[in-house]
Amino acid sequence: MSADLDLSDPSPLTEEPSSITERDADLLFRQARTVRSFTDQPVTQAELQAAWDLAKWGPTAMNTGPLRVLVVATPAARERLAAHMNDGNKQRVLDAPVSLVLAADPRFHTTLPVLAPHASERAAELESAPQVRAAMARTNALLQSGYLIVALRAVGLGVGPMSGMDAAGIDADLLAEDGWSSLMVLNVGHVAGDGDAFPRAARLDWAQATRTL
Ligand SMILES: Cc1cc2nc3c(=O)[nH]c(=O)nc-3n(C[C@H](O)[C@H](O)[C@H](O)COP(=O)(O)O)c2cc1C
Repeated sequence: MSADLDLSDPSPLTEEPSSITERDADLLFRQARTVRSFTDQPVTQAELQAAWDLAKWGPTAMNTGPLRVLVVATPAARERLAAHMNDGNKQRVLDAPVSLVLAADPRFHTTLPVLAPHASERAAELESAPQVRAAMARTNALLQSGYLIVALRAVGLGVGPMSGMDAAGIDADLLAEDGWSSLMVLNVGHVAGDGDAFPRAARLDWAQATRTL
């Protein structure tokens, strides 16, 4: 680390013009809210794919990329998913234009030869270490879930994440054929008005959340 780096100053380390604009920072973070009300405008496959094509570049350990997504689009599929959500979340799934079940793939190691050719020999080791795989899949898929929330906002969509659900029920009913483990559900759509967002709660600031050694 550079000796003249002032660690007491939380301002950006560089003035390079490659940083995002204030407008983009508002869109992605400061003005972005957890959305609970959407317009009737459908969400297209192209919009979801555009978000994925951003989120997929976010880093994961060894480039494992274990996040998988079940797109729950039809009314019948939404009814099926809603049955596994906590009471307060059921109607939100039924009302959303589309819901995404974000899941971790514990068999992500089969993609290592493509995603991590530098570490492809790990695939054989991981095959016989299912608990290690499950933990790696969960950690890295949760990380990618955060990237996907921000990416969906980046393409102009509103997002309502929810983990109040019977994850085992979702896995058995909706994900058994894939062997994926559900992590959360994202309701996704075009935001109606203020999105029925709850009052904005405080966040910890830099000084409260950090310690510098
Ligand atoms: C992983 C995760 C799980 C959540 N689960 C629920 C949930 O089950 N039900 C709900 O109403 N909101 C849920 N939320 C929404 C959070 O309460 C909300 O994002 C947080 O309070 C920040 O709100 P804001 O984005 O409007 O500032 C969840 C959010 C995340 C990221």
